[in-house]
Amino acid sequence: MTNVLSNPSFDDATRREHLYRGDVMVYGASPSTLALVEFTRELVEEAFGDLDPQLAQYAMDVHDFAALLAELKPRFIHHPRCKELLPAVLSERGCDLDRTYFDVPRLRTSTSDDYLTTGIAFAFHPHRDTWYSAPMCQTNWWMPVYPVTSDNVMAFHPKYMTQGIANGSYRYDYAEWNRTSRQDAAKHIGRDTRDQPTPEEPVELDPQVRVVPEVGGMMVFSGNQLHSSVPNTSGRTRFSIDFRVVDIDDVAAGRGSVNVDSRCTGTTLRDFHRASDLAPMPEELAAAYDGVAVPV
Ligand SMILES: [Fe+2]
Repeated sequence: MTNVLSNPSFDDATRREHLYRGDVMVYGASPSTLALVEFTRELVEEAFGDLDPQLAQYAMDVHDFAALLAELKPRFIHHPRCKELLPAVLSERGCDLDRTYFDVPRLRTSTSDDYLTTGIAFAFHPHRDTWYSAPMCQTNWWMPVYPVTSDNVMAFHPKYMTQGIANGSYRYDYAEWNRTSRQDAAKHIGRDTRDQPTPEEPVELDPQVRVVPEVGGMMVFSGNQLHSSVPNTSGRTRFSIDFRVVDIDDVAAGRGSVNVDSRCTGTTLRDFHRASDLAPMPEELAAAYDGVAVPV
């Protein structure tokens, strides 16, 4: 069962236990998240110039739109300001910054009416991040930058928290992916030919859960939760931010969600940095996750 808890008051360790079991947390906007929203909007609106970013897809050639995102997204991801804003968010949500590690934030877009659903604006089919070499203790933090509705957010398929699905993760090796496919995202317009883990049997998308946070509202869920992009029929491009978080004690102890079906190779743990001082994940901890995932 997946519970959606609104603004729970328990501490981070208790929150992680809930997340690993499949619960979803949603928090209201706060000073630190609104600062992140404001910064993101500045970058986005600067990139789109006179156009409303949420409606620009109706005025732009799709190749120009993809090229704009291909320049904007990395600029956001690697902007030094993000490295100040994210720890502030984590601190405000009760994380111990000396034990909490995060990956760079991603700026995501979901265009309306199938305008651009591949490559740089990839529409995610149902997946778990753990099929892509995320550790079982990863939590995902997701926040809308402009108002969202139930027809342009993302969906959870909670029954699969405890039920495995045949999937392509056995062909996925994170080190190999880094060497080859990742840099090519902007080239994939119309059709995305990169081999990414997908379900290899029919998935029942319903019942599904869609959480619609306010602008700056933060939704937190396990990286092992099956989730997908909702087909966007809202008439607006959705802009959201998400980032991944792990607690180093859970990494060291091997705590986390139960692996029901991931068989990928390698680990994303080397992408994570300590929230207090941006120190890298200790190599010996990451190395322990380098092998092939084995479902229990
Ligand atoms: Fe995901």
